[in-house]
Amino acid sequence: MEFKKICVLGLGYIGLPTASTFATHGVQVVGVDVNQHIVDVLRNGETHIHEPGLRTLVQAAFHSENLRVTDQPEPADAFIIAVPTPITPDKQADMQYVVAATESIVPHLGAGNLVMLESTSPPRTTVDLLAPILERSRLKAGEDFFLAYSPERVLPGKILQELIENARVIGGINHASSEAGRDLYSIFVQGEILLEDATTAEMVKLMENTYRDTNIALANEFSRLGLHYGVDIWRAIEIANLHPRVNILKPGPGVGGHCVSVDPWFLVEGAPELTPLIRQAREVNDAQPENVIALVEGTLGDVKGRRVTALGLSYKPDVDDLRESPAIEIVRALVGKGADVLFHEPFAPGAEVEGARSTPSLEEAFQGAEGILLLVDHKVFHDLDPKWVAGFLKNKVAIDACGAWDRQAWRDAGFQIEVLGVGEENG
Ligand SMILES: NC(=O)c1ccc[n+]([C@@H]2O[C@H](COP(=O)([O-])OP(=O)(O)OC[C@H]3O[C@@H](n4cnc5c(N)ncnc54)[C@H](O)[C@@H]3O)[C@@H](O)[C@H]2O)c1
Repeated sequence: MEFKKICVLGLGYIGLPTASTFATHGVQVVGVDVNQHIVDVLRNGETHIHEPGLRTLVQAAFHSENLRVTDQPEPADAFIIAVPTPITPDKQADMQYVVAATESIVPHLGAGNLVMLESTSPPRTTVDLLAPILERSRLKAGEDFFLAYSPERVLPGKILQELIENARVIGGINHASSEAGRDLYSIFVQGEILLEDATTAEMVKLMENTYRDTNIALANEFSRLGLHYGVDIWRAIEIANLHPRVNILKPGPGVGGHCVSVDPWFLVEGAPELTPLIRQAREVNDAQPENVIALVEGTLGDVKGRRVTALGLSYKPDVDDLRESPAIEIVRALVGKGADVLFHEPFAPGAEVEGARSTPSLEEAFQGAEGILLLVDHKVFHDLDPKWVAGFLKNKVAIDACGAWDRQAWRDAGFQIEVLGVGEENG
């Protein structure tokens, strides 16, 4: 199947790189976003998200004259849906954006078109939710138009490279739809393309993120045991991982982002009686910020009125994505306990947390701090010279919730350093 023009709905972390990559590979692309601000920013030659190389790629896409951005879909050979799929407060998949985007395609859907869902979705979404909506066009899914699901598995920070190089699974509602999907992504994908059914492809994505979440929960639980038994859990994990068939992940302040901390719920929601482990893992990870707070209070005592500097707010290192971030939850909790929190997030200088103060400068962040708390292992924090930091502080207390800092170096610079998952006897 040939694709001269495609319409990408949702110009976020996934949709914008996808739209731009198709455009730079010679396809006419209409990028659609309901957020007028995003449309305006892109039309002004700027990008609204931080991702290495993205600005240059988007500019190249505009320069090729193959990319246009607008707030309305229009007729095309293929439609790609890359809109958010968050969870509701009661941990159900919130499909309102997918529904709205799918509905907006209906008036433009034509015979022989392909509709491709990329948003991470609960099993059977493509078959049970999308097909009936699209069939309101009076065209029959799988016969008059093709319909498939293909999850995105890119790593923020390396999206542009992984979009092209990663293996991709395409799950059609029938084989012809899978083949149409393969023809579309073959335009730029260099990784292996595997054709499956739609529900298998949906499961693959959810299983990948659930696997990570469950393994992180295990590491987080180990960190609690480290404290309980006076063991340095980082060292213990390092040694356990020397076993050829063991690969324990690293503990941390919790799990965030709108993938790993969200997607396992999509499996729990549909079959709660079959997923006790997945639910438990989610709950373990969701409770992990409490362990960081306990570490802070165990180190500083009552935090009321104490000046604490929090380093990092994003959900993982070296990205600007703050969604579901445990670091934010920890800052909020410290504020709730009356601490005077100053935070520094170099990737999102405009970030706000109610009751806490933000500073764009590291120097200012350290000035007058009674304790510094590492919440995100950004490279710039990882590489901090403790001797330089010591120059700003009277009360030299460092709390490392990421297991990132060289404890001896910090001690040599005069710090008391406390690390998540390290019991007293091994501090
Ligand atoms: N960000 C990642 O690293 C990542 C990785 C794999 C999968 N995913 C999945 O991809 C999907 C998109 O994620 P994202 O990070 O790009 O989200 P995002 O929030 O960055 O972008 C989504 C965009 O969709 C727009 N939108 C909402 N409703 C719309 C509609 N009806 N029509 C057109 N645009 C609409 C929003 O304004 C927003 O700009 C989600 O399901 C997510 O789980 C994301």
